[in-house]
Amino acid sequence: MSSDTAQLIKEKLDIVDFLRPYVQLKPAGKNMKACCPFHKEKTPSFMVSPERQSWHCFGACNEGGDIIKFLMKYENLEFYDALKVLAEKAGVDIKTSGNRDFKSYNSLYAVMEAAKNFFRSNLVKSDLVRNYLRERGLKDETVQEFEIGFAADGSDILTHHLLKLGYNILDIEKAGLAIKTERGTYWDRFRGRIMFPIYNHFGKVVAFTGRILPGNNNPNVGKYVNSPETPVFQKSKILYGFHRTKSDIREAKTAVLVEGQMDFLMVWQDGIKNAVATSGTALTQDHLAVLRRLADEVVLSFDADLAGQIAAERSIDLAGAHDFAVKLLVIEDAKFKDPADVVREQPGKIKDLLGGAKSAMDYYFYKYFNNASTDIKAKKQNLRVVLAKIKNLSSPIERSHWLNQLSKIARIDERVLAEEMEILTPAGVAEAIVPAGAPAVSVSQKLSRRELISQRLLGVMLHLQNDMQTIEDHLKYFPEQYLTIYRDLLLNKGVNVSSDLGDFMNSISLRFSFENQDFDVENLKKEMRNLLRELRVEYLKDKRQEISDLIKILEGEGDENKLQAAMREFANISKELHNA
Ligand code: CTP
Ligand code: MN
Repeated sequence: MSSDTAQLIKEKLDIVDFLRPYVQLKPAGKNMKACCPFHKEKTPSFMVSPERQSWHCFGACNEGGDIIKFLMKYENLEFYDALKVLAEKAGVDIKTSGNRDFKSYNSLYAVMEAAKNFFRSNLVKSDLVRNYLRERGLKDETVQEFEIGFAADGSDILTHHLLKLGYNILDIEKAGLAIKTERGTYWDRFRGRIMFPIYNHFGKVVAFTGRILPGNNNPNVGKYVNSPETPVFQKSKILYGFHRTKSDIREAKTAVLVEGQMDFLMVWQDGIKNAVATSGTALTQDHLAVLRRLADEVVLSFDADLAGQIAAERSIDLAGAHDFAVKLLVIEDAKFKDPADVVREQPGKIKDLLGGAKSAMDYYFYKYFNNASTDIKAKKQNLRVVLAKIKNLSSPIERSHWLNQLSKIARIDERVLAEEMEILTPAGVAEAIVPAGAPAVSVSQKLSRRELISQRLLGVMLHLQNDMQTIEDHLKYFPEQYLTIYRDLLLNKGVNVSSDLGDFMNSISLRFSFENQDFDVENLKKEMRNLLRELRVEYLKDKRQEISDLIKILEGEGDENKLQAAMREFANISKELHNA
């Protein structure tokens, strides 16, 4: 991390001022709230902490961070690029700040660029590979346009070449191009492969994927080898081809999503200019968030095999949860495995298929109710599956439409279906994520009463900022993992807490603002007193349970003295509880 520069920039820019053009902020206690800019919602779950200069979305995203993270996510920038934008805004000159990390980002881009040029020059020399690409149906223009290359088979051809050009071995390794062996020597990661440069969304080469040559039937090597994640490459974020197709996607308001480079290049070549591809990874929330800002609709195209169908279903649900209209390009002709095959054999055909793309729900109805021979049990199961899909739809009108269709097909009353749907868990909804920096304590559902009270109390206290003393004589009632937090709070009056704990408390404070409507100080004080009393009650209950368990054991052992002592303690606690 470019921590010095980042810190400097964060000190100069106020997150609240910065966010104003992006979201409509309203006060919520000492924090602010707004409708989340990263997903569609009607009630605000995007919280901002002016105090800690951070944000968190408690809705579908369940994500948060600082001003830099916000810009990275909003504009889909890499850290370095987001920092450049912010630096300009803050009037920080990053060139003279002499930060090592900036230089290192630049050298990663440079080394990737040099590798790409080298692979391209190898391709010119290899008739074998050029002919193979032609045979696959790729035109020379497309090969040029997307700068496809070739990594010859040898142990360190590329590394050697890059060193000769003056690149640093550490950068070559960091870029994922060379792998260090146990003996300390370096090997090329990509050997004997057709090389597809992967560009970030600004068109810089940040990774490669390398396809094995035809005729290599060694079962021990994968068909594709991908670059590892590096500071400039996160594969869950990058969509292949996006730098060239984003304006077409924006214009069409639709993105055609395929799997892998070959499918992308072939459909692009065949005139589908609003396409993108995932590459070496399944579709992610980040991919969809990027597309959602430009398009309302995605057309998914997956391989016809079983793996492809499973991926299709998962992607439909995920895209549905991001409020996309989802369609499926279905290749019914069994001759063709994927869109690339279609384009090679029947140029122009893919546009027709695209025109006839099925809506996601049509696809599900087709998939789950087409087969007449399934038994009752399977039918019931399928009914549930489709109900869950309907539940996942964000538009009430669509939900009602499909419930009606389902009721016709299944010959079951719509109201009964609606009831059944209510109790199903929707598909594709993001799971709750434990906030960063909270190793021992989590903000999740399965918490004990005492933990819940401790968290709520923490939220109240962080908003009151004083009255810490009342806590002191209640310390022993807190669950153990909260003791550190409360001691820290007492000692430091809430400032200077360690940054891990700080993150956790921040998330508690934001959650409190998110859940709470009333921030009146007197009411908060009252709530705090109630919570402290409840905390003590819960502590006593836990304690009494422990002793009651102990008594059972002692009864078995027959130790009369110990048993008597335990019973006395039990009676005392019961009395305390009674008076509490
Ligand atoms: N993939 C991968 N690693 C593999 C296989 C596949 O990363 N071992 C990724 C690649 O991004 C690939 C995509 O998944 O492009 C789709 O895989 P597949 O359908 O098997 O390959 P195709 O793109 O159809 O490649 P080809 O037509 O050249 O066989
Ligand atoms: Mn293929």
